[in-house]
Amino acid sequence: MGATMGGEDLKALRASRKLSQDGLAKLLNERFRRSYDRAKVSKWENGVDRVPDDVAAFLTPADPAPAPGIPTANTGPATVLCVVNQKGGVSKTGTVVNLAWLLARSGHKVLVVDCDAQGSATIHLGLYPPEMELEGRTLFHVLLRKRPVQEAIVSACDGMIDLVPSGISLAKADTEISAMPHGELLLNKVLSAVRSGYDVILLDCPPHLGKMTTSALSASNKVLIPSNAEMLSIMGIPALLESVEQVQTMVNPGLSILGVLPTRFDARRSQDKARMQDLANMAAENRLRLFQPVRNAVIYVEGVNAGVPALKLDPNAPGVEAFVEVMEALLAPATPKAEATHGA
Ligand SMILES: Nc1ncnc2c1ncn2[C@@H]1O[C@H](COP(=O)(O)OP(=O)(O)OP(=O)(O)O)[C@@H](O)[C@H]1O
Ligand SMILES: [Mg+2]
Repeated sequence: MGATMGGEDLKALRASRKLSQDGLAKLLNERFRRSYDRAKVSKWENGVDRVPDDVAAFLTPADPAPAPGIPTANTGPATVLCVVNQKGGVSKTGTVVNLAWLLARSGHKVLVVDCDAQGSATIHLGLYPPEMELEGRTLFHVLLRKRPVQEAIVSACDGMIDLVPSGISLAKADTEISAMPHGELLLNKVLSAVRSGYDVILLDCPPHLGKMTTSALSASNKVLIPSNAEMLSIMGIPALLESVEQVQTMVNPGLSILGVLPTRFDARRSQDKARMQDLANMAAENRLRLFQPVRNAVIYVEGVNAGVPALKLDPNAPGVEAFVEVMEALLAPATPKAEATHGA
């Protein structure tokens, strides 16, 4: 801590992260609630003003040789996949739960972490969030009330899937995380205690780009973006890609985007076909892989109602091929062409 950073170092660091002086000022203002501007960054870079120690420490960890100050994101034995889209109702939870089931059924040890105060993954896996709250077995208790993560894990789907449940208490997490230095790295730290025990950890994100989502991105190796074939869902993706890029730049340079998964697709609806083309264009523009779509089918609603993955109810449910494709991509050894490190 307290290492002095020269202007040239700052300039090189900013260039390596593809940030403008304005962009860097904006990131720092978000982080420290200050009001730096381009002129200030320029003064630091030209040696007119000294780079503040906390700014230097904050910017240093993503360097190839991490300096003390901020812990960098871990990458452990489990692959951590974060399923994220700030648009509500695009089947993030359905994707997590069904992918978890497929992975478990093919012999992988899977942990689902419910990162959403709605507790949808918890409910979808047959557990009751208020009961989990009473027992203190929720992600909130783990993150912010010092409950060891191992004590919060419950078993779901006849012992096939492990789950860190969530409930309404997690609604307070964003505020508490914001008030802590490097609070978004807490989830990563918590998961590092269990990474060695799983092949895959799936994070079900809430429908916003708040602190829980950035925490999940900071703790992940890969990102999957489900999107239904609707204009509003597609139009939100660039903002999401910006958040991914910020996390890559600041704390988790190894984060890559697995791809975009179209969901709730109905080939009989002409507007779905048109929006699929929009999704394909957006994916191509951003060099993202587009998976084949998961079809709209009532079995997915029945799965939620029964508290069971749809693919457990019917292993041949429409759309199973899409989940298999995602699973194979997730398990495949990373190749630079198969995944995009967005902005790299
Ligand atoms: N392939 C599908 N076909 C039909 N209905 C689906 C499908 N996938 C999900 N649904 C239904 O859509 C609704 C929303 O799904 P889900 O909860 O997975 O979305 P979400 O993105 O996680 O929502 P939120 O943003 O609130 O977390 C659920 O009621 C679910 O039953
Ligand atoms: Mg959800």
